[in-house]
Amino acid sequence: MAEQIRVLGIANGGGDCPGLNAVIRGVVITAIREHGWRVIGIRNGFDGLIWPERTVELTLASVRGLIQRGGTILGTTNRGNPFAYPAQNGDTSSVTDYSALCCENWKRLGLDAMIVVGGDGTLFIAREFCKRGLNMVGVPKTIDNDLSATEVTFGFDTALHVATEALDRLHTTAESHHRVMLVEVMGRDTGWIALHSGIAGGADVILIPEIPFTFENVCQAIEARIKAGKEFSLVVVAEGAKIPATAFGAPVVPSKGISSVSGVTVARVLGDHLKKEVRLNVLGHLQRGGSPSPFDRILATRFACSAVDLVARGAFGRMVCLRAGRIESAPLDDAVGKTKRVDPNCDHVRAARGVGITFGDRA
Ligand code: F6P
Repeated sequence: MAEQIRVLGIANGGGDCPGLNAVIRGVVITAIREHGWRVIGIRNGFDGLIWPERTVELTLASVRGLIQRGGTILGTTNRGNPFAYPAQNGDTSSVTDYSALCCENWKRLGLDAMIVVGGDGTLFIAREFCKRGLNMVGVPKTIDNDLSATEVTFGFDTALHVATEALDRLHTTAESHHRVMLVEVMGRDTGWIALHSGIAGGADVILIPEIPFTFENVCQAIEARIKAGKEFSLVVVAEGAKIPATAFGAPVVPSKGISSVSGVTVARVLGDHLKKEVRLNVLGHLQRGGSPSPFDRILATRFACSAVDLVARGAFGRMVCLRAGRIESAPLDDAVGKTKRVDPNCDHVRAARGVGITFGDRA
């Protein structure tokens, strides 16, 4: 209960995401102003639990001016699982289980509870620590918006704005040069950013992991536009889009890319089969950097305050989530390992088809 909490930890793990600093700010201010708790920031994922010198006391002064700042003042890593911490020594790689050390350091740091902000992997780690008796509460985070326990994660809206603005800009240059412009957006397992930005940015083709496509169908749709006098096309490809094994009867050899193989491979195959110039733009980490949108700042702040409430109520092993526009909570067990995928029959997909966007699954 509230009176037992004196010191609250806060950690974030995995890829960074616009709104992380807004969560840290919300947690610190609410914890100090409403409860008088001390707040300790754990640096770089869970590193601060392994090496306590990698922690920092967070005060009202430390979070001043943070709501609009991208990134995270705590630093983060997606290679810092304390249950299997990777290390490289020359050619030899190893993994170490530091979880028992983390539990000892938890006591040494005087922590009574911790708020963990992260995606699937980080929340999985939080759940494992809860099983070992550490009081943890989760806050969901990912620009991919693919966590099943919450309708929306903060960061998604900002990424969507970046991708939509890119499409708007590419629209005019594609039209001027009569080109096929491809935009690869993030979405390792799911097509949320591609689907939403594709609709908002007036794309002609959207390729997402949830809807298998063929190159024949995609080329046909672009050629039909050309025949109708529309000399340019905009194609949005989620990085996780599944590349078909063949195109026009020949095997497709995936091209190696910087962020993934989908954008480069699709651009190459379309370039080979269309009598059009094809250009690729990989948005990559531009979608994760920079200032969060107002929606993400507000959602992050609401999540932060509700996570502090969960701690105050002793509701550990749970995470905050958004359902029907309200902040609720769900067990961490429900949150991890269940990817929220785009339903190919959802109304967004139907609306996209309605306005003439092709997903490459139909002739
Ligand atoms: O999980 C979020 C995400 O943005 C994925 O869409 C993308 O594949 C990944 O992060 C990239 O992460 P990294 O920073 O390790 O390249």
